[in-house]
Amino acid sequence: MFDLPVLNSSASESGLYPVSDVANHVNAARKLYVETYGCLMNTNDSEIVKGIMHTSGYAMTDKPDDADVILLNTCAIRDNAEKKIHERLKHLKFYKRRRGDLVVGILGCMAERMREELVVQKNIVDLVIGPDEYRALPDLVEKAFGGEKGIAVKLSRVETYDDIEPLRTEGISAWISIMRGCDKFCTFCVVPFTRGRERSRAAHLIVDETKRLWDAGFREITLLGQNVNSYEDEAARTDFADLLRATARAVPEMRIRYTTSHPYDMSDKLIETMAEFDNICKYIHLPVQSGSDRVLEAMNRNYTVEHYKERLHKIKELMPGCALTTDIIVGFPTETEEEHQMTLELMREIRYDGAFMFKYSPRERTKAWKMEDDVSEDVKTRRLNEIIEQQQRIATEINQTLVGTVEKVLVEGEGRRDATKWKGRTDTNKFVMFPHLTDEANGQTAGYVVGDMVNVRITKATSMTLVGEVVA
Ligand code: 5AD
Ligand code: SF4
Repeated sequence: MFDLPVLNSSASESGLYPVSDVANHVNAARKLYVETYGCLMNTNDSEIVKGIMHTSGYAMTDKPDDADVILLNTCAIRDNAEKKIHERLKHLKFYKRRRGDLVVGILGCMAERMREELVVQKNIVDLVIGPDEYRALPDLVEKAFGGEKGIAVKLSRVETYDDIEPLRTEGISAWISIMRGCDKFCTFCVVPFTRGRERSRAAHLIVDETKRLWDAGFREITLLGQNVNSYEDEAARTDFADLLRATARAVPEMRIRYTTSHPYDMSDKLIETMAEFDNICKYIHLPVQSGSDRVLEAMNRNYTVEHYKERLHKIKELMPGCALTTDIIVGFPTETEEEHQMTLELMREIRYDGAFMFKYSPRERTKAWKMEDDVSEDVKTRRLNEIIEQQQRIATEINQTLVGTVEKVLVEGEGRRDATKWKGRTDTNKFVMFPHLTDEANGQTAGYVVGDMVNVRITKATSMTLVGEVVA
């Protein structure tokens, strides 16, 4: 879903964590570079890893060439995600050749499968560490400098890294993992096997973290979990809707988002809570996966198309302007042409603002792994192209209706490709580009800074991006 590696940047650069906070700099000279693949949970995990390593005295670098330790935080969700890591490892071999003392580690969802690699590719990989073993990192990295290979891939039923302060890079948007793992066992999905069983963090700690982030200058948070709807702090009798309410109340000006929801658990209470608070963004990512009840059942999704549509009805009833995105898989084993047409039809009926669309990729250990992968690659490609094309057309049409409207946009930073423009997102999570305001007198950038909320009149729209100008 989020395929590009997210590069880290130096903590001290961000100014968020004064160097004096760092305990005994045993490894003061050593630099860590982390490269992240996969979902937002992984992005936040990398921040947790950096937090742990920073406390142990490591400095951060965003240049692999400068690093003493290179960690790849991996994703196993589809075969192409894994292939990318193998390619990357080939590159890292050259780094290793140049610098014999470089430590290279594999983290995250591919860890379990990479144990074997550690043996085969001994000369590249020094460490393999699963998502629940990051506390062991400083110790294992230290040993790796002494030539010892390290493996730690056990999954935990309790680890939530509650006491670890993630090392967040600069910016005004922060991710907060509120839970780990997943108990849903969708038949195509490897996550319950790579990230283990579901467990939630304590609600009061999440609320406290939100407050601290506001004080540190963050203006938007995204509460993360594989299935946030089943969040539960048993001790405090707090479900996800309660948690959302508590964070929205605690910091009324913080923009609050969350992802991902499961349609089965999308309760009325949650929808009502979203509707009640202005600072909870009107945007829901609600993966449907397929438009066929038979396929949904084979996927063990536990809902029907009817149930899904009924949930959307409730959402639109309480929040008419709420934006909606989804995930779709084409070519799940036994999916017929007719069932594919049902998915296309459902997408036309719902008219999603956006969609992440994938070809089914068989994953070892899942239930579907035992089914024959009987939809050919050609057919998968064709079906995928059909849904992508249709979705782009619909998203463009939806976004075109925004031309002329004024949207509230949180200024997030300068555009990646065009530094004369700001980038930001609407409440409904649409990406907007708009020019700097310049002060006529001296030609300097004026008016507002990153973190401000501005009104932007939309002048142009494509399927993925809005363009506009700031109005008073
Ligand atoms: N093949 C293709 N897509 C998958 N997803 C999860 N597992 C697979 C798989 N084996 C997709 C689902 C999920 C999203 C995060 O990734 O659509 O919602
Ligand atoms: Fe995977 Fe299903 Fe859990 Fe999502 S809800 S992480 S698709 S098992």
